[in-house]
Amino acid sequence: MIEINGVAKAFGGVKALRNVNLQIKAGEIHALLGENGAGKSTLMKILSGALERDNGTIHIDGEPVHYKTTQGAREKGIGMIYQEFSLVPALTVAENIFLHQLKKKTLINYKQLQQDAAKIIHDIGFNLDVRKPVYQLSVAQQQVVEIAKALTADVKVLILDEPSAVLGPAEIVHLFATLRKLRDRGVALIYISHHLEELFELCDRVTILKDGRSGETFNIAGTSRDQLVAAMLGRSLNTMFPDRNHITHPENALNYQFDNISLFQKTPVNFNLKAGEILGIGGLVGSGRTELLRTIFGADSQSKKSVIAGSEKLTLKNPKISILEGFGMVPEDRKKHGGLLSLSIRENISLANLHQIANKFGFIDAGRERSVVNELVNRLQIKLGSVNDPLSSLSGGNQQKVILAKWLNINANVLLIDEPTRGVDVGARAEIYQIIHELASEGLAIIMVSSDWEELMGLSDRILVMREGQITIDLPRKDFEEETLIRYAIGAHQTNA
Ligand SMILES: Nc1ncnc2c1ncn2[C@@H]1O[C@H](COP(=O)(O)OP(=O)(O)OP(=O)(O)O)[C@@H](O)[C@H]1O
Ligand SMILES: [Mg+2]
Repeated sequence: MIEINGVAKAFGGVKALRNVNLQIKAGEIHALLGENGAGKSTLMKILSGALERDNGTIHIDGEPVHYKTTQGAREKGIGMIYQEFSLVPALTVAENIFLHQLKKKTLINYKQLQQDAAKIIHDIGFNLDVRKPVYQLSVAQQQVVEIAKALTADVKVLILDEPSAVLGPAEIVHLFATLRKLRDRGVALIYISHHLEELFELCDRVTILKDGRSGETFNIAGTSRDQLVAAMLGRSLNTMFPDRNHITHPENALNYQFDNISLFQKTPVNFNLKAGEILGIGGLVGSGRTELLRTIFGADSQSKKSVIAGSEKLTLKNPKISILEGFGMVPEDRKKHGGLLSLSIRENISLANLHQIANKFGFIDAGRERSVVNELVNRLQIKLGSVNDPLSSLSGGNQQKVILAKWLNINANVLLIDEPTRGVDVGARAEIYQIIHELASEGLAIIMVSSDWEELMGLSDRILVMREGQITIDLPRKDFEEETLIRYAIGAHQTNA
C-alpha cells in the first residue's frame, strides 16, 4: 500500500533522515523501532504531510504522491496521531472529531454531528459523552478522540507515534483491541514505541531505523527480543538492570522519615527511606504518585508534611529550600518541567548550583563551570555535539541524563525521580538504570515513581503501591511479583477479586 524510497530530510545541518526505504502492506501493524533521534517521528511527519521531504519518493497504491500538507495527506487516506496531541480543549468531543470537516461548513447540524461522533467512538469499542469539552477528559480519553478524529476521513493508513506512553495498563488493552479491529478492516497501521513487549503483542512486522537510515525488516513471529535490540543498537544488551539482589545497607545509614503527607485531602501517608536505598512507587495514573513527590519537594506550597532526616527536622517549604537541604527532583514531564529546552546543555547542568561556579563577585566563573559540566558529561556519557548546544538538540534519553546531571551537581542526598525513562530508548534506558544504581550505591536515597512494573521491580529495593492517595502495600524486594503489585494498584486486594 505504501512504498517509501530514498527519503531524506535535513534540519539545517542535522541530517535527520539520510536514506529511508519502507514498505507497508494493507491489513498489517508495522512497527518502527529505533533509538531516540533515529528519525522515526520525522519520517512519519513526512508521510502525514506535516513536513516536506528533501529527497526521495512516496507511492500509495502504486501512485506517486506529492502532497505538502496534512490535509493533502488526509485526502490520500493517511491519518496520524502525534506524540503531542492536537485537540482543541474548549471544544466538545464531537466538534473535535469533525474539526476538519467543520471548517468547510457554514451551517452545522449538531444533532447529526453528535450522532456521527458517537457512532465512530462506539465502533472502536469505547463509550464517551461526545458533548463534553475535551479539557474535561483524561489523557486516555483524549487519545480515543484523536483516533476517532483520524477515522473520520477514509483512512487507509493510521500512524501512531508512541501512543501508549500516556496510558495505563487497562487503557492499553483497549487501544490494542481498537488497533486490531482496524487492521482486520484492512487499514495499514504504523506503530512507534520504545516498549518491545508491545511490539511482540501487537505488531506483525517491524522495521529498524538507525541514524536516519532504514535497516532490516523482521516478521515479529520468529524474531527474538535480543535480535531486535542488536539490530537497533548495533550491539547486544546483556543486562537491562543492574544487580540489586545482594545490596546490604549499613546499619548506621541515615534514615529519612516522611510523615503526615496528605494527598487529595485524604488520610495522610507515612513511610521511611534509608540512605542508599531505591524506593519504588507504583500505582495507576492518578493514584497520587506525582503528588507525593511534589509535596515532599515543596512544589505545591500549601501542602503539609513532616520530613525528618536522622534526628533533624527539615522544613522543605519550597523547592529552593529543598535544594539547599540536598533534595533533587526529576519531574515526569521533561519538556515542561524537567529542563529548559532553549537554554544550553551547560546552563541546564549548572542551573541548580550557581554558587559553586560563581566567583567572589557573584559572577559565573566560566572556566570552573566548564570543568564541572565536562566532568558530569563524561561521567554520565551524555552524547552531544557541544555543551553550548540547546538542550532541545538532544535525544530524549540524553536530555534525561542532562537533568540527572543537574542534580548530581548539587551533591544531593535525596533524589526524587518521576518516570525516569518515559520515551527513552532501550539502550539509554539501561544506561540510566546503571546511573541510578550507582548513585544509590554511593549513598543517595532515591524515590522513584514508575508506571513500568518491570522497571520498578528491576531497580527498587522496596516498592510502595499507591491507590487513591493511599499506600496500599509496602513490599520488600524478595516479595516482588507483578501480579501482587497490580492487585494492590487496582484495589483487587480488598475485594478478593
Ligand atoms: N524541527 C527540528 N529541527 C531541528 N532538528 C530536528 C527537528 N526535528 C527533529 N530534529 C532532529 O532530527 C533527528 C531525528 O529526530 P526524530 O524526532 O525524528 O527522532 P525519533 O526517532 O522520533 O526519536 P524519539 O524516539 O526520541 O522520539 C534528531 O537528531 C532531532 O534532534
Ligand atoms: Mg519521536
